Amino acid sequence: MTKLIIGNWKMNPETIEQARGILLPIEHKMHLVQENLEVCVCPPAVFLAPLNHTSHNVVLGAQNVSWLDGGPLTGEVSGSQLKQWKVKYVILGHSERRIYLGETEEMISKKIVQVLKTRLVPVVCLGGDKAAKKDEMKPLVTRQFHAAIKNLDRKQIEKIVFAYEPTWAISTVKNSEHASGEHARELILHIQELLSHEVGEARAKNMLILYGGTVNKNNVHEYTKYPEIDGALVGAASLDPGDFWEVVHEFYRESIHS
Ligand code: PGA
Repeated sequence: MTKLIIGNWKMNPETIEQARGILLPIEHKMHLVQENLEVCVCPPAVFLAPLNHTSHNVVLGAQNVSWLDGGPLTGEVSGSQLKQWKVKYVILGHSERRIYLGETEEMISKKIVQVLKTRLVPVVCLGGDKAAKKDEMKPLVTRQFHAAIKNLDRKQIEKIVFAYEPTWAISTVKNSEHASGEHARELILHIQELLSHEVGEARAKNMLILYGGTVNKNNVHEYTKYPEIDGALVGAASLDPGDFWEVVHEFYRESIHS
């Protein structure tokens, strides 16, 4: 099955030259891994237009979108504006937006509807919450999952990529902890089970569910050994082309062996 690796650059880097410097080495090596695997980078929105000319084999994604088609909403970017720069994926429900920017489940649900309407692919993060505790992730993920899909029909749900993204396993969070591959797998299987109830078991198995806690060259093996983990949503390591490439390549290696 295809794997998907998404680099979430967050509010980095500072300049477009630096952004090109991160993307180009990956772009140049993509011919080595293209079958079975897709790589996407999500730069800050201002870099999407210039990077559109640099990225051919690496797909572009956005870190946010408005729930409206256009109009009076200061600071927001619409789905159709993103589409002009060949954006394919949009990250929604990331814990940083939920926790620091006050994005509610209602807003996330409206954004998912809008992203699907614009024919972009929502990457919906589950597990981000100020109070997220390691041993209580299933109820949180279940609640966020149902809130995310509440206005969707089966066909729409099938178009979503989900990511299990526990706040406590993000490198930049104070006192962050490592999530084991076994834990990531367990929660990914839980999301798959939730999906089975909505779209049926066979279809749920064909949907991509990524792991979104810290993944880098030092720990990637821990996650690639579980075939149920369909890829990664990578933060800090995606800003270092060497580190990111090792993550990409490791998922590729596993995908051709599975
Ligand atoms: P990290 O971020 O890879 O820097 O830990 C992951 C995330 O925010 O999803």
